[in-house]
Amino acid sequence: MKLDQVFKNNDQWVKDKLALNPNYFTELGNGQNPELLFIGCSDSRVTAEELMGLGPGDVFVHRNIANMVISIDLNVMSVVNYAVNQLGVKHVIVCGHYGCGGVKAAMEAADLGILNPWLRNIRDVYRMHRDVLNKIACEEARYNKLIELNVQEQCVNLIKTAAVQKAIKNEGLQVHGWVFDVHSGKLIDLEIDFDKYLEDIREIYRLE
Ligand code: CO
Repeated sequence: MKLDQVFKNNDQWVKDKLALNPNYFTELGNGQNPELLFIGCSDSRVTAEELMGLGPGDVFVHRNIANMVISIDLNVMSVVNYAVNQLGVKHVIVCGHYGCGGVKAAMEAADLGILNPWLRNIRDVYRMHRDVLNKIACEEARYNKLIELNVQEQCVNLIKTAAVQKAIKNEGLQVHGWVFDVHSGKLIDLEIDFDKYLEDIREIYRLE
């Protein structure tokens, strides 16, 4: 890919936006008020705004390998706290995707150096759900199930945080677990039953 093309694309994009609305960038420059926080995978195919048909100003985005919400990761925790406390987002979405290389790597025996502690968190998800996963004979189906369970556990990690607990209680914040199917382009809502997990949260992880 020639990077010159990127700047040409950008010129065209600016022209297209201004043709539709001459004040587009004036309005964009006035500030942001997104209602969604999207936590997705860094995978180049999982483009947050584009796959939702949204644009600049609509979504606060955090992406990392395998869409992880790790309590000691200052990066994701800063994003979550800022989005919830300062921006007042109404929805937090953890979006995994089928074909996730990070989840695949966590299912294999390989020393990946600095990635080991990161992927360890996915191995922990596997261990927690080993009974369900080991019953699935088809490796592809087991892989897909781990991708879904990983999304579920990252959602649970979100509601272990004080900021999210407070916003659920006081602002009606909603947490959602989705999967993007790279083979069909479809966005799938896993319809996670958070009430079930909120009971654990109230009993064990309650912070306020
Ligand atoms: Co991925």
